[in-house]
Amino acid sequence: MFIQQLINRLGTQKISKSESELYRHSHDESIHQKVEPDVVCFPDCREDVQTILNVASIYNIPVTAFGAGTGLEGQVIPVEKGISINFDNMNRVVEFSPEDMTITVQPGITRMNLNKQVNRHGLMFPIDPGADATIGGMTATNASGTTAVRFGSMKDQLLDLEVILADGTVIHTGTNAKKSSSGYHLTGLFAGSEGTLGIITEITLRLHGIPEYTMMARCTFDSLETCAEASHTILGSGIPIMRMELVDQTSIAQVNKYNNYHLPCSHSLFFEFAGAKTAIQEEVKLAEELMKDLGCDNWDTASDPTQQKELWKARHEITYAYNHLSGMDEVGADVCVPISQLPKLIVYARKLIEESGLNGGIWGHVGDGNFHTLVMFGKNNTEERKRAESVNEALALKAIDSRGTCTGEHGVGLGKMKFQEKEHGDSLAVMKGIKEMLDPKHVLNPGKIFS
Ligand code: LAC
Ligand code: ZN
Repeated sequence: MFIQQLINRLGTQKISKSESELYRHSHDESIHQKVEPDVVCFPDCREDVQTILNVASIYNIPVTAFGAGTGLEGQVIPVEKGISINFDNMNRVVEFSPEDMTITVQPGITRMNLNKQVNRHGLMFPIDPGADATIGGMTATNASGTTAVRFGSMKDQLLDLEVILADGTVIHTGTNAKKSSSGYHLTGLFAGSEGTLGIITEITLRLHGIPEYTMMARCTFDSLETCAEASHTILGSGIPIMRMELVDQTSIAQVNKYNNYHLPCSHSLFFEFAGAKTAIQEEVKLAEELMKDLGCDNWDTASDPTQQKELWKARHEITYAYNHLSGMDEVGADVCVPISQLPKLIVYARKLIEESGLNGGIWGHVGDGNFHTLVMFGKNNTEERKRAESVNEALALKAIDSRGTCTGEHGVGLGKMKFQEKEHGDSLAVMKGIKEMLDPKHVLNPGKIFS
């Protein structure tokens, strides 16, 4: 019935029930149970999205937004079936103002495509979660990644959002001004709301100038704890780094094997420095001294762009390196804690992995206190899976106790729902109140964040 309505109002071109599309929209890159939607819609303008929400509201049908499907927490899985909205055909630049260093885009544009269009004007969009995610998906999960240490997360890039509410109202959450003290900050509310409060149809972002010069460095430490402490030393030194990533020995070994890299097989720190050439050269020298004082080995630098790209490629392939282990599945964590707590928490994570008797690695964006664990278990081995999940659970609880969060960047989705009460306490009731007000019929991505 509702599908017929969608066909009548959108036309058959924008609707698919093909097996391959239903399958594509049943999952992301996590191991959460796949669920196929009843139908996939391909809107190409805000009016189409309004139509979809109108039909959904009349027939009480769940609506779940889908970007690139690169998420890691199941946000796009339509757990209660219904309509999946795909934004492939809403991937245009709406307005680009190089002189203001801002751009307004539709949600389906990917971050790499966006960069292609702005780079030739000497500008960049720096948020880099690794995958070529869509800007809509990155906004909806408040994504970040390797450059958060300098630029923060998605919410820090957003000036304005156009959002269609469940009742079809179109709102703007901000303006094109760089800052504002006017009213409640609805932009921040929608960043990370995972499609549960409205459907985002336009995003206005701040852009940044491309630095004159970048340089990469890496070094290793015998001890994981010292490696984590070293990252803290760099932050305290005031050297303005662009990226700082820790990768433990297990993960280095894994990625070396995966793609035949020859990275020194020990706990490693990867740095990127970016700015004016002479300043960067001085900063790299200072970083080298600081790291050597702490006993690092294998200090190495690269200023050649190709060489730098290759090293970051290796860093970004860690998850894939684990994913491709045959016969294995894995569960991951992405806790974030105050930076002073980081070394302690990383040591705790390693201990949990050892005690589980399973194989697993640790890596992450240590410059902002955010790191990942990934624990592997035999496919279909429920006992091992339970043990792997309990590592992540203990770690998330410890992070919350350390005044941190169960998720620094991947979002709540399905896997972090169980930590929401402990992390938010009475604030959870405020969140539920907002949800109730904006989506009283519970059609927007039901079954996510909280039940
Ligand atoms: C990373 C992903 C897992 O940092 O967030 O590799
Ligand atoms: Zn990450």
